[in-house]
Amino acid sequence: MAVGSALRTIYPFSSTFGPLVPPTPPHLKTINMSTIDVYEFAPSADTFRLERKHRTSQPLGPHEVRVDVTAVSLNYRDHIALNNLAKRPVGGKIPCSDGAGVVAEVGSDVKLWKAGDRVMGSFFATWRDGPFLMKYHQHDLGGTVDGMLAKSVTLAETALVATPGYLTDIEASTLPCAGLTAYQALFVRGGLASGQSVLCLGTGGVSVFALQLAHAAGAQVYVTSSSDEKLTRAKGMGAVATINYRTHPEWQKAVFEATSQRGVDHVVEVGGPGTFEKSMQSVTAGGHIALIGVLTGFGPPAASLFPLVAKNVRLNGIYVGSQAMFQEMNRFLEEYQIHPVVDRVFPYHEAPRAFEHLASGNHFGKVVIDVATSE
Ligand SMILES: NC(=O)c1ccc[n+]([C@@H]2O[C@H](COP(=O)([O-])OP(=O)(O)OC[C@H]3O[C@@H](n4cnc5c(N)ncnc54)[C@H](OP(=O)(O)O)[C@@H]3O)[C@@H](O)[C@H]2O)c1
Repeated sequence: MAVGSALRTIYPFSSTFGPLVPPTPPHLKTINMSTIDVYEFAPSADTFRLERKHRTSQPLGPHEVRVDVTAVSLNYRDHIALNNLAKRPVGGKIPCSDGAGVVAEVGSDVKLWKAGDRVMGSFFATWRDGPFLMKYHQHDLGGTVDGMLAKSVTLAETALVATPGYLTDIEASTLPCAGLTAYQALFVRGGLASGQSVLCLGTGGVSVFALQLAHAAGAQVYVTSSSDEKLTRAKGMGAVATINYRTHPEWQKAVFEATSQRGVDHVVEVGGPGTFEKSMQSVTAGGHIALIGVLTGFGPPAASLFPLVAKNVRLNGIYVGSQAMFQEMNRFLEEYQIHPVVDRVFPYHEAPRAFEHLASGNHFGKVVIDVATSE
């Protein structure tokens, strides 16, 4: 089957609530034409706003699965999309890559799932295993194709991963992007070993996952934050040293001192151009920088890249991960009984407020929308 047809996610026809849904023609009366409650990115001047809509439901294709979504978590990427910071044409798309739910119905040829199975969406719906291929960008949920911020979604059976039994759906909804990105960065590409040191920048979703995963693996974790209160929480979760990057703008020196002038083995680099120079100064000779984020913008780093050469540093670009990595991460999470850190849960009808909370930067860990709420 062609990938395009396998990924016919939620169907393109949409209408606003209520009376605009056209009457069903008599010859279509036998087809299930109920509606699905979704959010969409709606164009608004130079950015987008969240608009709640009803779309018409369609019968499932033979390899499709309908999932009743129960929880969706937000990533900085969703803030980027809403505010058009990366100029992506997401208008009319359903936001958010990360969601969990329950299989409600399966197509006639579906082999992998049955009604009642607990599942999560896969950020790259077609990256199942092996190395990354550029074509996977055509199927990133909540970006190029519809995402998870809806009461019900239709996905290819191969675009789902089983939810670990010990996690709630609220917790599981945080795994597909933030959790997996941290996992790929540290273990798959970083080769993190027990006793090594890891520097996590800030206390957002990816960084708090990195703290949890690295600590569980026996690493020494260093955390920066703009907030002493958040740093206290990070210490409580096992960070060996913490640095306030607001009160210590030369935080890389503090990292060097805290590591007895050695530097760290791994940097989880979520800041981008504004932090990269200091990350290069924080890493040890032969160390590893996982280049992940753009919290300080999309521009080029102002710094010379020569320290990477001089220190024989490994630099890995990281983009979330495959379903095989996702499953491997879930086994790791279960083994160590790691529970994602959920900062705050918003009801479905307050999804715009959840986006505002993420944009405020006041969160520690993940911001989640409880889609199962009735309103
Ligand atoms: N490549 C990928 O696959 C991938 C996947 C996921 C995310 N990302 C990217 O990674 C970044 C983080 O994503 P996220 O979803 O974890 O974001 P998030 O949850 O929104 O994280 C926000 C936090 O980042 C910290 N922060 C902001 N500016 C900082 C700076 N200059 N230095 C250090 N920390 C800073 C702040 O922590 P404090 O409040 O503690 O200061 C802030 O609360 C984003 O750029 C995102 O686009 C990339």
